[in-house]
Amino acid sequence: MTDLVTIILAAGKGTRMKSALPKVLHKVCGKEMVRCVLDTATSAGSKRNIVVVGFGADEVRKALDGAAEVVVQKEQLGTGHAVLQVEPYLRETKGTVMVLCGDTPLLTVGLLRKLYEEHEKAGAKATVLTAIMPDATGYGRVIRTASGDVEKIVEHKDATEDERKVREVNAGIYCFEKDALFSALSKVGCENAQGEYYLPDVLSILRGQGEKIWAVAADDYEETLGVNSRIHLAQAEKILRRRKNIELMESGVTLMDPESTFIDMDVSVGRDTVIYPFTWIEGKTSVGERCNLGPSSRFTDVKIGNGVTAHFVYAHECEIKEGVTMGPFVHIRPDSQVGKNVKIGNFVEVKNSNIGEGSKLPHLQYIGDCDMGAGVNMGCGTITVNYDGKQKFRTKIGDNAFVGCNSNLVAPVSIGDGAYIAAGSTITKDVPSEELAVARAHQKNIPNWPDKRK
Ligand code: UD1
Ligand code: CA
Repeated sequence: MTDLVTIILAAGKGTRMKSALPKVLHKVCGKEMVRCVLDTATSAGSKRNIVVVGFGADEVRKALDGAAEVVVQKEQLGTGHAVLQVEPYLRETKGTVMVLCGDTPLLTVGLLRKLYEEHEKAGAKATVLTAIMPDATGYGRVIRTASGDVEKIVEHKDATEDERKVREVNAGIYCFEKDALFSALSKVGCENAQGEYYLPDVLSILRGQGEKIWAVAADDYEETLGVNSRIHLAQAEKILRRRKNIELMESGVTLMDPESTFIDMDVSVGRDTVIYPFTWIEGKTSVGERCNLGPSSRFTDVKIGNGVTAHFVYAHECEIKEGVTMGPFVHIRPDSQVGKNVKIGNFVEVKNSNIGEGSKLPHLQYIGDCDMGAGVNMGCGTITVNYDGKQKFRTKIGDNAFVGCNSNLVAPVSIGDGAYIAAGSTITKDVPSEELAVARAHQKNIPNWPDKRK
């Protein structure tokens, strides 16, 4: 697919979604539909990708984040009109142009390659991907001649009773010979039920000119499902999640219950990791080997090393290094780095902090804006007091420090290596290395108290 150019149509509003968000930005398996289609095209070998945007153009452009060229279709006058907007950008292009819809996120690399290869082999001017749908409602129907050639595509709204009985549909995916595409597009009219310029009309126009048009049938209709409604979105979501789970299990990951495990498309998981039910692994998260994750946990954009155990944990935009154990009921917030073999017990929150190797946060801690060394022991209920109501400050805790239970470390403050903090202290001044800080009222016992009260 040396010089393949791909056009992805993504300008429509998606009225049937009943949404303020452009349809192609709705996510499936954690990724915007248009990104799914784009990534599949790129993986299939497409060298240049052009996305046609219109409704919500700025939002779609932002989501694409420079990963494709963008062409604007000012008015949404139909799929044929959308492709026509790209013509000025393809003056130099020769050969094959692939056209995809931004609302078919289930497409696979294999299917696109097959379409392309069969199009090239057939030497056709246009090749359309078709599928046999159990329920073809809403799709354009593929009408074939008695000898089986594709005669035309009829949109659902324009189809007769008999045509609507046809279950072979246009998947909205095509390969065209570039010059033939644009010369036929200039002849497409809009006399139809929707008053739109239909891209599929190119096929019957080319056929009428005696050109060869071709069709490739998908083996599995699921790969071609188009998402037009929230119901379709949920169906696509289910299929993609199942696909991802199967891919992971085949690569050596144990999913205790795939039905209740939700792993986004771009997540990677190392082998011999075991994932318990009700666990979400999202975004750009990567998980190492031999981890035990879940139940009831959520990881979003987290880098997780090998051999990590985490149950009942929510961690996001952070790094959890090798051998860490966490949970239950732990919240690791953005910009945190939890070092090797750290132990985090129950009811602990860590925010924007670095926790050094082997340190222990066993119960009831709030650690915010803290740089903690290695081998530190934080007693139950210890808190870094990082906020004075206006500004945030950092706390530094040296290697092997021992912070007694229920202590407050009022930032900015620094605790030296090997220092001790007496339980119940409120530390407001730096504590040098290997010193003991006691910062609490001295205890006074008063004898015979009941008598004195009288
Ligand atoms: C389209 C096909 C139909 C096919 C189906 C497959 C046409 C006329 N119909 O129907 O034969 O079975 O896809 O899923 O092509 N778009 C634009 N600009 C526009 C209109 C649409 O960019 O002016 C984009 C949309 O954002 C969407 C794609 O084109 O990503 C398809 O549009 P949609 O309205 O969903 O077409 P369907 O009715 O599903
Ligand atoms: Ca559609």
